[in-house]
Order: sequence, then structure tokens, then C-alpha cells
Amino acid sequence: MRIGILGAGGMADALGTQWVRAGHEVLVSGRDPAKARALAARIGFGAYAGSWAEAAGFGEVVLLAVRAHAVPEVLAAAGDLTGRTLIDCTNAVVPGAFTLATAGGPGTAERIARQRPGAHVVKAFNLNHVDIWRMRPPAFGGAPLGVPVCGDDPAALALARTLITDIGCTPVDGGPLERAGLLEATAAFVIGVWAGGADVRGMFPPADPGRLPDAAPQTAPGSR
Ligand SMILES: NC(=O)c1ccc[n+]([C@@H]2O[C@H](COP(=O)([O-])OP(=O)(O)OC[C@H]3O[C@@H](n4cnc5c(N)ncnc54)[C@H](OP(=O)(O)O)[C@@H]3O)[C@@H](O)[C@H]2O)c1
Repeated sequence: MRIGILGAGGMADALGTQWVRAGHEVLVSGRDPAKARALAARIGFGAYAGSWAEAAGFGEVVLLAVRAHAVPEVLAAAGDLTGRTLIDCTNAVVPGAFTLATAGGPGTAERIARQRPGAHVVKAFNLNHVDIWRMRPPAFGGAPLGVPVCGDDPAALALARTLITDIGCTPVDGGPLERAGLLEATAAFVIGVWAGGADVRGMFPPADPGRLPDAAPQTAPGSR
């Protein structure tokens, strides 16, 4: 698969390296062409560098991996994304506050989808630290990392799932794109907990599906 990457920072490096190792081709881009070229050279055979627009036009999948505040500017420079699968891994987390800059409105992925109705937006890869994405494979206690994916287009979701599987992880159906905001809020919350020194892993033990709220017997309002 050919994957254009909007960004030449840590996430572009981590995921671009994994995907090239898995046999894909990537074209990385950034505001500093020399930095993008250096990243492509570091990733090696199968990696190229170019402009934002060249990354957008490179392949069927485009990974958006820039700082959240730069998303509108970078997408404007990227140009036409019609028919592309646009994987958004950004987190609009307010530094120090660990809230979302998008709070009170649609999340980043939904905003992008509204502004770019021709692109097939998928939210993925935003929940884990860049160092996790560098692991070969990202796995814990022998179990592959589960990667939630939110999106509306079946073909785009299938491509995202392939790219998740190809780096040794397990795709997790996160529902339609309207749920991507929950994924973004989860990232802000988890990053805040993690920055506070707590171990997030101990917070989410598995529950018996039969005892989840949706599975509970329906009770008439006011009858409790
Ligand atoms: N780091 C993580 O652990 C992690 C994990 C999951 C998701 N994410 C999300 O993934 C995205 C990328 O993270 P990262 O770790 O790769 O960040 P990074 O290493 O700081 O790289 C960010 C990229 O955005 C570019 N950029 C920043 N400001 C820009 C601007 N005003 N105009 C154009 N380009 C700009 C940077 O260009 P320069 O190199 O020229 O500054 C760089 O190419 C972020 O939204 C982040 O929230 C990060």
C-alpha cells in the first residue's frame, strides 16, 4: 500500500517505519523539507519525502500526524483529499490542563470530515504514546495491543484495520466517526492520568459483557 504522511515528527517516524518494515511505501512531508528528507532517509528503502500536497496525492491512505493546532493549515496546503482514506491520529490536548481544545464542539476528526466531505476520515492510533508505536510488535503480556478505530466508510475502515494488523496489533471496532470524539476525550483523560504518575493499565479491567448497562433488563422510567 502507498501511504502519504502529513508530518515528519515522532508519529510519522514511528508508524512510517513500521509500515515500511511491513512492505508498504510511505511519503513523509513537513513544513521543513530537510527534516522530511532526513526522516525518509532514516526510514530507508520504501520511504520518500515531499510536500504536503505530494503526500496527500501519494496513495490511497493519508496519515494526519501534525500538532493539532496546525491541522487546518496543513490540510489546506495538502489540497484535494477526495476519495482518500484520511487516518487522523491527532490529539488536541491542552498542555497542562489535559482537556481538549475542541471541547464544546465537534472533535477534531468530525471537524475534518465536515470540512472535507470527500475524504474518508478514520480516527486511530491516537490513544498510545509514540514509544508504543515503535515497539516490534506493540504487545503486552504476550497480547497484541488493541487499537480502536472509528469511521463511517467500510473500505476506509478496512484499510485502517490492515495497517493496524500489519504492525502486529489488533483492530478494535470503535463505531462510527461520531464516536471519535470519545476516543479523543479518552486520550486527553488517559494522558492526564499518565502524566500524574498513575498506572492507567490498572484502571480498565475487563467486565462481564452480560452486566454492561446496555445488556441490563429495560426498566420503565421512574420505576426504580
Ligand atoms: N507523541 C505521541 O506520543 C502521540 C501519540 C498519539 C498521537 N499523537 C498525536 O499525533 C500528532 C503528531 O504527534 P508527534 O508526536 O509526531 O508530534 P511532533 O513530533 O511534534 O511532530 C509534529 C509534526 O507537526 C508539524 N507541525 C507542528 N506545528 C506546525 C505548524 N504550525 N504548521 C505545520 N506543521 C507543524 C511538525 O513540524 P516541525 O517538525 O517542523 O515542528 C511535525 O512535522 C499530534 O497531534 C499528537 O497529539 C502523538
